[in-house]
Amino acid sequence: MKNAEQPVSKQATGKESYSLVNNQTGESVELPLIKGTTGPDVMDIRSLYAKTGCFTYDPGFTSTASCDSKITFIDGDEGILLYRGYPIDQLAEHSNFLEVCYLLLSGDLPTQEQRHKFRHDITRHTMLHEQVMFFFRGFRRDSHPMAIMCGIAGALAAFYHDSTDIKDPRHRAVASSRLIAKMPTIAALAYKYSIGQPFVSPRNDLKYAENFLHMMFATPCEDYKVNPVLARAMDRILILHADHEQNASTSTVRLAGSSGANPFACIAAGIASLWGPAHGGANEAVLNMLQEIGGKERIPEFIKRAKDKNDPFRLMGFGHRVYKNYDPRARVIQRTCHEVLDELGAKEEPLLDLAIELEHIALEDEYFIKKKLYPNVDFYSGIIFRAMGIPTTMFTVLFAVARTVGWVAQWNEMIEDPVQKIGRPRQLYHGQTFRGFTPIHKRK
Ligand code: CMC
Repeated sequence: MKNAEQPVSKQATGKESYSLVNNQTGESVELPLIKGTTGPDVMDIRSLYAKTGCFTYDPGFTSTASCDSKITFIDGDEGILLYRGYPIDQLAEHSNFLEVCYLLLSGDLPTQEQRHKFRHDITRHTMLHEQVMFFFRGFRRDSHPMAIMCGIAGALAAFYHDSTDIKDPRHRAVASSRLIAKMPTIAALAYKYSIGQPFVSPRNDLKYAENFLHMMFATPCEDYKVNPVLARAMDRILILHADHEQNASTSTVRLAGSSGANPFACIAAGIASLWGPAHGGANEAVLNMLQEIGGKERIPEFIKRAKDKNDPFRLMGFGHRVYKNYDPRARVIQRTCHEVLDELGAKEEPLLDLAIELEHIALEDEYFIKKKLYPNVDFYSGIIFRAMGIPTTMFTVLFAVARTVGWVAQWNEMIEDPVQKIGRPRQLYHGQTFRGFTPIHKRK
């Protein structure tokens, strides 16, 4: 059983376990099945190496459950996304971002009293320590705001020594509130810094999304009133992006946190992972792509490129590792996009027109149908942000602001999990086997 080269086949032995049979020796091992409340059963392979001497091989974790979670559920085939059991469209319609934060962190929607207290806990942490400003000033003014986010979120680890005992639930709660509260302030400051405007302090009388828009667009020289339609749209976008189970950035946060690392440093790691164009960077990439396409007449050319195996170009905002049906977030955001453009009198926005046409053509194309490639949440979010006057480089930053609560909830869950261990994947090694050191004068 210890020979990794021997072929092994799998056969179902009923609902409780799988038996893995070695085709050459006939030996078999039983692997128990663990059932969740919904979703696929999970084969418990923790004893596999001890019993067989084999590891499993699963680059990109396409078949591997890395943890046991109660927070978010996705059914990619049905296009379902639930936060703590509640469907995303109902939350986007009837709830608000802070309430969703409470839900993700605690497991239930808050009562009036709990909501009031939670809002108070968050708002008392919205300001940044004055010395954090020195970090901002150290960045070049043309720095990408995601680079600033990574740096400043990590730097917070140097400021809050009173909330770093990760075994203490009170410390974790304070660190969580600080992160959720300060992320919009950091994001808005990164923007103000890049355009050379004075920083605008958070306003605790405003709602979460309203406060963010105020910090982004207010200036000391005139009154700025946040448009309620835009505030509602921003709030909805934050809800849609708040968590998405074990995606790359969340898994990064869990992995970093599994060593007992500082919470602010773990979130900085999550921000770094989110930045990539295959993940949170896609909304920025969608807008760049639409601008590059330029007009409807060039859509066929780009569709052809997306289908060409020898061309690295992909249709950004299309496809998802988990959703093989329409992304339920994309439906909500498409509606929100129309509301925002109506409000701003930008119905004729040419990029929206282009996006709708591109979506239409792709959805009827055999290649995209066969591969189950549908628009994802990022396809429309960029158009909304652009209409609101938010620059492209800030798009992923907004994703990070929203996702912070998901990262924090998952980090807390991991620490409370009694079976949690330091994350330590194994590997399939194809490098050199043992060889002796060659002195330099003998090397060819
Ligand atoms: N355009 C053209 N072809 C595509 C696309 C696309 N956007 N996405 C996947 N494919 C093809 C891919 O070439 C592959 O073809 P083949 O089987 O012939 O080699 C097949 O579909 C499967 O793709 P994959 O890369 O193996 O699938 P994955 O699950 O590893 O990747 C993805 C998922 C999101 C990285 C990918 O669909 C992609 O790169 N999409 C564009 C970027 C994007 O919009 N990302 C945002 C994701 S949603 C926000 C978030 O959660 O971060």
